[in-house]
Amino acid sequence: MDAEEEIALEEDDRCPTGISGLDEVIGGGFPRGRTILLTGACGTGKTIFGVQYLFNGITKYNEPGVLVLLEQNIDQLRKDMRAFNYDLRELEEVGKLVIIDASLSRFNVSDINLPKPSHDRSFSLTSIELIETKEVVDIILDTAKEIGARRIVIDSLPALNNLVKSESSVRDIILNMNYRLQGGDLTSIIIDDIFDDRKPGFSTQAYVVDGVIVLDYKTSGPDMGRYLTIQKMRGTRHSDNIHPIRFSEGVGIEVLGVE
Ligand SMILES: Nc1ncnc2c1ncn2[C@@H]1O[C@H](COP(=O)(O)OP(=O)(O)OP(=O)(O)O)[C@@H](O)[C@H]1O
Ligand SMILES: [Mg+2]
Repeated sequence: MDAEEEIALEEDDRCPTGISGLDEVIGGGFPRGRTILLTGACGTGKTIFGVQYLFNGITKYNEPGVLVLLEQNIDQLRKDMRAFNYDLRELEEVGKLVIIDASLSRFNVSDINLPKPSHDRSFSLTSIELIETKEVVDIILDTAKEIGARRIVIDSLPALNNLVKSESSVRDIILNMNYRLQGGDLTSIIIDDIFDDRKPGFSTQAYVVDGVIVLDYKTSGPDMGRYLTIQKMRGTRHSDNIHPIRFSEGVGIEVLGVE
């Protein structure tokens, strides 16, 4: 990409993450309207990253967001995120954040009435019979439209795959999402888990999306610590380095090693 194209992407075409150090190494933010896959083993910080992206979007850039939560309980998440000063409830109450809670759906618990506060729009998918990938994507996109969202986070893709009661594969879901989100005003993060030893960032879904960020956590040895790598980011220059990251109370994730 030449310098002129790079400059053309600089302003409205960027979706800043607001994550300290990250925007600097991806030319100012994610290219807008794209889908980014965020991948890593368990406990590497994918959920924190996703929430931070939405939280910053609302509080720093006035861009509402939708979180599709499939991996964990909504109340637990709200509680965990308070350690980083992310008051999700406050953002839900003012209608800037909607959490679609699908965390029980994968267990087919369809008749539980989860207590739902009346003052926000977050809702549970457990009572909805989901058949096709398209319907899941419809619900997400309709919700996004209702609140004028510009950011979506889906946590996570394998759990979403379990929720869809059809022959759809992860690849179908991501192709469908990617196709329908593309060119729109929504910049999305889809979280993917790594359960085995396959090399992160080289799954089928990684080829389909526009960007791949890999989080890593080395628990022993001289390079012990947490890391972030930008595996790919179509349409922009980006750092090729393995960046150390830090999780700080009251802050969230910070990307280090940025000149
Ligand atoms: N208050 C905190 N301060 C610092 N680090 C924390 C704090 N809370 C959690 N962590 C770290 O973050 C990790 C969890 O991060 P997160 O839930 O984002 O990971 P994940 O990649 O989404 O995991 P999973 O694949 O299991 O969903 C914890 O294992 C812990 O190491
Ligand atoms: Mg998680």
